[in-house]
Amino acid sequence: MNVLIVGSGGREHALAWRLAKSPSRPKVFVAPGNAGTAREHDLENVALSDPAALADFAEQQRIQLTVVGPEAPLAGGIVNLFRDRGLRIFGPTREAAQLESSKDFAKRFMARHQIPTARFATFADRAAAHAHVEAHGAPIVIKADGLAAGKGVVVAMDQASAHAALDRILPPVPTSDAPDAGAPARVVIEEYLEGEEASFIVMVDGKNVLALASSQDHKRIGDGDSGPNTGGMGAYSPAPVVTPEVHARTMREIILPTVRGMATEGIPYTGFLYAGLMIAPDGSVKTVEFNCRLGDPETQPIMMRLKSDLLELLEHAVSGRLDRIEASWDRRVALGIVLAAANYPDTPRLGDEISGLPKGSEDSHVFHAGTRESEGRILTAGGRVLCVTTLGDNIRLAQKRAYSLIDGIRFAGMQYRRDIGHRALGR
Ligand code: AMP
Ligand code: GLY
Repeated sequence: MNVLIVGSGGREHALAWRLAKSPSRPKVFVAPGNAGTAREHDLENVALSDPAALADFAEQQRIQLTVVGPEAPLAGGIVNLFRDRGLRIFGPTREAAQLESSKDFAKRFMARHQIPTARFATFADRAAAHAHVEAHGAPIVIKADGLAAGKGVVVAMDQASAHAALDRILPPVPTSDAPDAGAPARVVIEEYLEGEEASFIVMVDGKNVLALASSQDHKRIGDGDSGPNTGGMGAYSPAPVVTPEVHARTMREIILPTVRGMATEGIPYTGFLYAGLMIAPDGSVKTVEFNCRLGDPETQPIMMRLKSDLLELLEHAVSGRLDRIEASWDRRVALGIVLAAANYPDTPRLGDEISGLPKGSEDSHVFHAGTRESEGRILTAGGRVLCVTTLGDNIRLAQKRAYSLIDGIRFAGMQYRRDIGHRALGR
C-alpha cells in the first residue's frame, strides 16, 4: 500500500514515522518533507507541494491514501480537488476547513449551535471596533479574521495595546487615491478567558469521532510563558488538566455538537479536528479556537504514545467506520521540546549547520521541521527546526531525557525553552 503525507514540518515527520511502522508496512511518501524525513530509511521525500501536481503524483504512484498536515492546502481545497479526481484523502474540504480559516465563521457556527466559547463581535469598520474596545475595556482579545500562523491574535492586557492591534489589522478607510486592494480586513474582538489551555484533537469521519490522547503546548517563545506567541515551543501528552470529567464534557459540549452541526449544515467534517480549550478553575470548558488539522508540536508526543496501527485508524476514518475502532496509548508520558532558529518568531535566520543529532531509540526521536540537506550536511531551513521527543514513566523523567538529548545538539543561534512541561509538573 502506498500512502502520501503532505507537508514538511515536525507534525508530518511524526505522522510519517508512525505510519511507516504500521504492521502492513506501507510505502510512505512525504511531500515535500524535510531533512529528517529524507534520512528515515523507510520514508521517501517527493519534491512537490502544488495540489494539482500532488494529485497527479497520487494517480501515477497509485497512492491509496493521502493525509494532509498543514492548514493552508486544506483551506485552499486540496481535499475537494483529490475527491473530484476520485482519490482517497483524509482532511476537511475547503468549506469545512473554515472552522480554522475564518474565525468569524467559527464563532458564528459556535453561536448557532450553543457551543461554549468567548463572547465576540466582528468588525470591518475601524471606528466601531475602537468604540467596542472603549466600551468593554481590557483585558480583551483582538483577532485578525483569516489564517495567520498563530500571529494574528493579540491578548491585550490594556486598552492601548488593543487599539494599537486594531490599527494594525484594519486598514484606514480606502479612498479613491488609495483603493483597497484585497478583500476587506475584518477583526474579531473577544472576551478574555481565564483558565488553563489544552489541546483536544479528534479524528472525524463526517459522523463518528475518535478522540486522540490529550496534550498541551507552550505557545509563548520564552520561559514562564513570556514574550510573543509562536506556533508552539513544546508539548506533552497526556495533559493532566484534561481529567476524565473535562474529557467527557468536551466531547459532549464541544466536539459532538460541532460534528453534528457541520453535518446538519451540509458541510460534513472529515479529518483531524483540533479544539483549543480553555479550562476554567470550576471545570467548565470553552473553545478558544478550532484548527482543521493536527497540532504542531502536539502531534510529535501524541505519535510517540500511539500504540495502535495508525494506518488502520486512517482507513477507518476515510471509510466512515470510526465507530468500529479504538486507539490504544502508551501509558507513559511523551514530551517534545522545539529547538528554534535565531530570531524566531520574527524573521528566523536560516542556513546554519546542525550537528550532534542523536539516533532515535525506543523512547526518543528527534523530529525535524525546518531542516534541509545540502551536500551531506543538515542546515536550518525554518523557524522551528527540530522537536526532540521522548517517553518517560512520568513527566519529570520524559523532560530529563529530552533535555539531556538536547545537550548534544548544536546550531548557531539555537533557542529553546527550559521549562517545557512545567504546568504538568505542578499537578
Ligand atoms: P488562537 O489563534 O485563537 O488560538 O489564539 C492564540 C492564543 O491566544 C491562544 O492559544 C490563547 O493563548 C490566546 N487567546 C486566544 N483567545 C483568547 C481568549 N478569548 N482569552 C484568552 N486568551 C486567548
Ligand atoms: N501548537 C498549536 C497549533 O498547532 O496550532
